Amino acid sequence: MHFNLLLVLTVLLRQATALVLPPSNSTSNSTGKFSARTVFQFPQGYWLENLAVRGNGQVLATTYMPSAGLYLIDPTPNASYPAVLVHQFENSTSALGIVEAEGTEPDTFYLATLNFSAADGFVPRTSQVWRVDMSSFHYSPQTGQVSGKAAVSHVTTLSSVGMANGMTLLAPDSSHILIADSLRGAIWDLDTATGHYGLSSSFPAMRSDNPARRFLGIDGVKVHQGSLYFNNAGEFTLARMPIHSDGIAKGEPVVLATDLYSDGFCLYDADTVLVTMNIDNGLAALDLESHRRWMVAGNMPDGVFTTPTSVELGRGEDAGKLAYVTMGGTYVATGAEDLVGGSLVVVDLKSATTDPKGTGRGGLLVQETETIWLEL
Ligand SMILES: *[C@@H]1O[C@H](CO)[C@@H](O)[C@H](O)[C@H]1NC(C)=O
Ligand SMILES: *[C@@H]1O[C@H](CO)[C@@H](O)[C@H](O)[C@H]1NC(C)=O
Ligand SMILES: *[C@@H]1O[C@H](CO)[C@@H](O)[C@H](O)[C@H]1NC(C)=O
Ligand SMILES: *[C@@H]1O[C@H](CO)[C@@H](O)[C@H](O)[C@H]1NC(C)=O
Ligand SMILES: *[C@@H]1O[C@H](CO)[C@@H](O)[C@H](O)[C@H]1NC(C)=O
Repeated sequence: MHFNLLLVLTVLLRQATALVLPPSNSTSNSTGKFSARTVFQFPQGYWLENLAVRGNGQVLATTYMPSAGLYLIDPTPNASYPAVLVHQFENSTSALGIVEAEGTEPDTFYLATLNFSAADGFVPRTSQVWRVDMSSFHYSPQTGQVSGKAAVSHVTTLSSVGMANGMTLLAPDSSHILIADSLRGAIWDLDTATGHYGLSSSFPAMRSDNPARRFLGIDGVKVHQGSLYFNNAGEFTLARMPIHSDGIAKGEPVVLATDLYSDGFCLYDADTVLVTMNIDNGLAALDLESHRRWMVAGNMPDGVFTTPTSVELGRGEDAGKLAYVTMGGTYVATGAEDLVGGSLVVVDLKSATTDPKGTGRGGLLVQETETIWLEL
């Protein structure tokens, strides 16, 4: 979440009226490195914040602006109506992190909302968690017709939480969700089976003293093989913390990367992180072993990457081959006419070669055209 942009965009908010968004041009390409294609371009004033990929390959994206919305985006190249509003959440202005309870409730998603304020970017202690069961949702990407609604229910108001942001499952078969609290620099544990939540961990590495980033610390969170990974949006770090099976910290977080101007991230494999570079308008890969990093896509003056906010890998037959990236959109200081709405972009990783240089893990994402962008 790039809050400086939000202030500018607030002024230009428009009400979300269309239930089904019209088709848009989706031919733009990001060249070099791995190719990227805009799947769907939202109108001006829409800020996409986070996403989850359904088991069927469709993408669910949350909107931070102009309202707390959940959109389904069908990446099928021929879809006439690739995007449709699944639900607009009451009593909140903005939607953020989203995760599927894939083991206990397949195709059911939990997401966080909160209230936005033009003065502060968000209102502390207004976070809520909602449950969205997509199994009853039916729509045709060819006609745009919605013939079945998602079952949506309110789970809990997180009144102890400063700002709920990124969310991750504790384990693939668990009913527990770990929630990053960007304001308090903490991780909360929500049991979706009971709706109860409690503090899981809090460390200085999760907090931020950076007023330019509104003191926002821990942002994205992911659990992988007994470790919890998180980035700190205000301190520009990525860290790993060993955890017990109940999510409680086994030790202090270890900072793996600094000067990382990042937003959401995901693990490509055990040693490679894909991270959205919020300010550099690109998707980077970070090799946790060698500490090298590459720009994988974007970072080009073609307007495809416009403030990337989150990334997730494709599923099923697209696993490891595609990465979906949500964009917040962008603005140019010269005026409102230069504002571009958020979008969903797909990055084609199919041509990733295995270790062409013998450099080890990061090699999975190294192409011949790859250039080392920055070394730690
Ligand atoms: C889409 O492309 C057509 C033809 O190139 C162009 O006329 C139109 O303005 C474009 N629409 C948008 C929303 O960019
Ligand atoms: C986008 O990239 C693909 C693959 O490189 C290419 O086939 C296609 O022609 C490009 N499209 C545009 C509009 O540049
Ligand atoms: C998509 O479009 C291509 C080319 O226009 C066509 O060959 C293909 O059959 C279409 N696929 C579907 C599922 O409609
Ligand atoms: C919305 O908030 C009001 C008061 O703040 C409360 O009475 C109502 O139940 C809430 N509705 C939902 C759907 O959370
Ligand atoms: C959020 O804002 C809405 C309207 O803007 C208001 O009705 C609601 O009570 C607020 N919720 C909280 C938790 O402050």
